[in-house]
Amino acid sequence: MVKLNLQLQEINDIVAAAKDAIFAAKQSSILNILRIKYFGKKGVITYRLKELNNISAEQRPVIGKLVNWAKKEITHFIEERERLLAECEINTASQRETLDVSLPGRGENIGGLHPVTRTLKRIECYFQKMGFSITEGPEIEDGVHNFDALNISEYHPARAMHDTFYFNSKLLLRTHTSPVQIRVMEKKKPPLRIITAGRVYRRDSDTTHTPMFHQVEGLMVDEHLSFTDLKGILIDFLKAFFECSLGIRFRPSYFPFTEPSAEVDIKCEICKGEGCCVCSYTGWLEVLGCGMVHPNIFSYVNVDSEKYLGLAFGMGIERLAMLRYGVNDLRLFFDNNLDFLRQFN
Ligand code: DAH
Repeated sequence: MVKLNLQLQEINDIVAAAKDAIFAAKQSSILNILRIKYFGKKGVITYRLKELNNISAEQRPVIGKLVNWAKKEITHFIEERERLLAECEINTASQRETLDVSLPGRGENIGGLHPVTRTLKRIECYFQKMGFSITEGPEIEDGVHNFDALNISEYHPARAMHDTFYFNSKLLLRTHTSPVQIRVMEKKKPPLRIITAGRVYRRDSDTTHTPMFHQVEGLMVDEHLSFTDLKGILIDFLKAFFECSLGIRFRPSYFPFTEPSAEVDIKCEICKGEGCCVCSYTGWLEVLGCGMVHPNIFSYVNVDSEKYLGLAFGMGIERLAMLRYGVNDLRLFFDNNLDFLRQFN
């Protein structure tokens, strides 16, 4: 009887010790070790179960019942602890990943269009409304389209003025958007109205010149056009672009591809025409070149110059953007300084 009591006491102690150890386990790997300790091949409970065979028939049911109870208890403790540990793991993981929707946002930076793009789109949009369609031309041009077809012969001084970047004797980076006029007329027959904008390149670099800049070119070919139409179109455009009525003058000029040709100036807003350093003390700022399409251009693209007339104009986008936004250094447009660019958003 003493021996039986001793056994019962031992099993109770095993269960109590197992309970303490199991509920002290902080990781499931420790629970696995404990599981092996009690139920492995040489485990404490496994041993007790095997030992039942060596016990007298009268004690066996009592001790057997107790060992089975111990087995059930310890299994239950392990399962319970496993469930708790899993719950804890889920809680800490979700705590780590919780989104606090009440936190203030991090202030997303919203980008905006570059002032040159903004100006370009504004000009395109205006002329689109006037019935001009948008066309594109290549930035890598050949000498024929960039010069020859535009009446700028090989020895023409204008060719030297353009300070061209050449790839080889035939290919170059276009120095202006005027070659698009030729490309359009090669493909389409009049009447036509096109507007084209894009990058142009010249070997030039100082406060008012960058090796790459943007131009917009317009061309209109129809039967009854005159210089008056050209004037009307450009005056209306400049008023709409600057959103005010400004002093505008057409000054006779020379371009090989137009005859007659003119340059258009607007009155300097800074000195109100008095003369200042911005307008080189002339009181006027040049904004574009224009003219009536030269008959030689028409003959190059097989358009009957007896029947059709053309008007054309070209302008520098950076220059217009500088005047509209009051920017005094052309290079600011290319520095990509965010403080500068953000002002246009
Ligand atoms: N292509 C000229 C330039 O880059 C600008 C120009 C002048 C374009 C007169 C024209 C025009 O279409 O008619 O300086």
